[in-house]
Amino acid sequence: MKEHFDTLEAKTTQAQMGGGAERIAAQHKKGKLTARERIDLLLDEGTFQEIGQLVTHRSDNFGLDQQVFLGDGVVTGFGRIDGRLIYVFSQDFTVLGGSLAEAHAAKICRIMDLAMQNGAPVIGLNDSGGARIQEGVVSLAGYADIFYRNVRSSGVVPQISAILGPCAGGAVYSPALTDFVMMTEGTSYMFVTGPNVVKTVTHEEVSSEDLGGASTHASKSGVAHFTAPNELDAIRQLRQLISYIPNNCEEEPPALAYSPSDESRPALDSIIPENPNQPYDIREVLNAVIDPDSSMEVHAEYARNMVIGFARVAGRTVGCVANQPATLAGVLDIDASVKAARFVRFCDAFNIPLLVFVDVPGFLPGTDQEWRGIITHGAKLLYAFSEATVPRITVITRKAYGGAYDVMNSKHIGADMNFAWPGAEIAVMGAKGAAEIIFKGEIAKATDQASKLAEKEAEYKQQFANPYEAAARGYVDAVIRPSETRQHIIAALDMLRNKVASLPRKKHGNIPL
Ligand code: HXC
Repeated sequence: MKEHFDTLEAKTTQAQMGGGAERIAAQHKKGKLTARERIDLLLDEGTFQEIGQLVTHRSDNFGLDQQVFLGDGVVTGFGRIDGRLIYVFSQDFTVLGGSLAEAHAAKICRIMDLAMQNGAPVIGLNDSGGARIQEGVVSLAGYADIFYRNVRSSGVVPQISAILGPCAGGAVYSPALTDFVMMTEGTSYMFVTGPNVVKTVTHEEVSSEDLGGASTHASKSGVAHFTAPNELDAIRQLRQLISYIPNNCEEEPPALAYSPSDESRPALDSIIPENPNQPYDIREVLNAVIDPDSSMEVHAEYARNMVIGFARVAGRTVGCVANQPATLAGVLDIDASVKAARFVRFCDAFNIPLLVFVDVPGFLPGTDQEWRGIITHGAKLLYAFSEATVPRITVITRKAYGGAYDVMNSKHIGADMNFAWPGAEIAVMGAKGAAEIIFKGEIAKATDQASKLAEKEAEYKQQFANPYEAAARGYVDAVIRPSETRQHIIAALDMLRNKVASLPRKKHGNIPL
């Protein structure tokens, strides 16, 4: 036995802390923390319990038999965030570039299996050169073992990925399968093929940062839900994110204490501009309705015509989905639909009530949107809302036009409580467009066509540009003063607290992907 340990010691060229002092210093120089430093910051102090610290790689190829790296380039285990159980893996770039091989993958799989068995989130801290080249196909097999578990765990336990270094090739697909992706600015990137391959194949010259850095994925591709200027901030945000979500699909999200107070928000009575075409920031409405400083926006830089994020109302987590009139008039386009649809499905999977604010002029017209499939992508949002069984509340603040009215959590697709502000316009389209179509002949015959159009526009507006037609049919439950929105939402959430709803028996639906 002693012999065995002597050999192990002789082969172990690096300390248990990772790839040695020099490599750790190099990691720090890049503005990156080590795998263990990250875990220490992420978890409540002193709670980390490591699993598999003595696991080593199993390959003898290309000189790997000459070295033993305890832990095989990944630190795995469990601990607590705000006292709640969390599983974590943290790839160690100082050991063989954090590359993933058989033993490394097996350690991650073990954590994922435990998380499923015991019902707790998995946070992956990714910093890896990808498949370990020396180990060949077993590295690829290791990735596939992880992907498979990502999918099996989806909707059972929350899965969160932080990208804190390179993440390239097929390796990107594990984070992509998880619920949320966080990236650090300047020190992380994700791409399926790197700049060199891009140059060879398409002759495009692009840097790693432009191709797959944090800002690219936060604003252009939508792959990253969150970005952080540094790792400390990234880890702070991960802890905050965990605070909104339950540990598994059987649990309710954690709630904070709440004592009723004056819930009226008079500023909301004057927040909608007189001119219906003038924008306002829906975030101001959201911030007035939710508990003070309780929000965490998701995908803040992507598809800004839709605002989504977590917040608390009377101490309870809600998932907010809101059209943003300040960007593209809040129109629904492909990116906004997909962004909101995925978020709705996350909230539904994890028992988070949905709070939806509607001010939408319709779907974005044009060849770009049609040719890229707005029909299919818009249907995703319709599907996601229709399928959601969590408490669902809607507030129409201004426009709810056309198909977008139906899609944005209308009563018809299963919303529980729908409110409208007095100035809401619920109609097939805007009054001008409507008048131009239905009074086309009359307007053409008029000597003064402009004033005829204005007259017909006013007529249509009078008839439909209000919430009362919808209220009379019960499509909205109440027309409420904006300043009283918060109290109505608190009461509705309370009323829906024990909602039980289920979907028809099926293997699974077929969301239009
Ligand atoms: C083995 C690797 C490695 C890898 C890095 N290293 N990547 N070892 N397998 N995939 C080692 C390096 O040899 C080096 O060891 C140490 O890690 C640090 O790497 P550096 O290159 O010095 O660091 P840096 O300059 O920061 O560059 C990081 C890097 C680069 C951009 C990630 O190392 C790189 O391009 N690596 C290869 C990436 C790659 O092609 N991976 C395969 C992707 S395909 P020494 O001992 O010299 O310090 C893939 C398929 C997955 O992952 C498929 C799943 C389905």
